[in-house]
Amino acid sequence: MACDRTAAPVRPRRMRVATTGEIPVGQRKIVELEGRSIGIFNVGGCYVSLRNPCPHNGAPLCLGTVTGALVSDRPGDYRYDREGKILRCPWHGWEFDMTTGQAVAGTEPRIRSYEVEVDYVSTYPVEVDQGIIFVRLR
Ligand code: FES
Repeated sequence: MACDRTAAPVRPRRMRVATTGEIPVGQRKIVELEGRSIGIFNVGGCYVSLRNPCPHNGAPLCLGTVTGALVSDRPGDYRYDREGKILRCPWHGWEFDMTTGQAVAGTEPRIRSYEVEVDYVSTYPVEVDQGIIFVRLR
């Protein structure tokens, strides 16, 4: 006789991580939630949460420099863009777009991201409720 090992779906746990006043635009807060190191960033007024260990070699990615990227639509035409949306790893300089989790170079693995209440992709879902920022752990 087969056992029914079907488990009830687990709801993400909503965990308070900060107040909006703690993370102004361009700033971050790194928290430990159930053994996971997570960086909460305010990217232009939207909050994103990113897994801290870098997918390359485990550096504390969320301690990296927040910057922008050079983009080009055609040869010889370059401009600096996405200011405040690119996170550069402090160890080897891999860069990730915090709004998508994608590596800027396009060949490195993307960083794990979690949903956010706003339209950005995050490692964990982030919600803002009356000035309190919550992350949902899956
Ligand atoms: S550990 Fe992040 S780029 Fe190498």
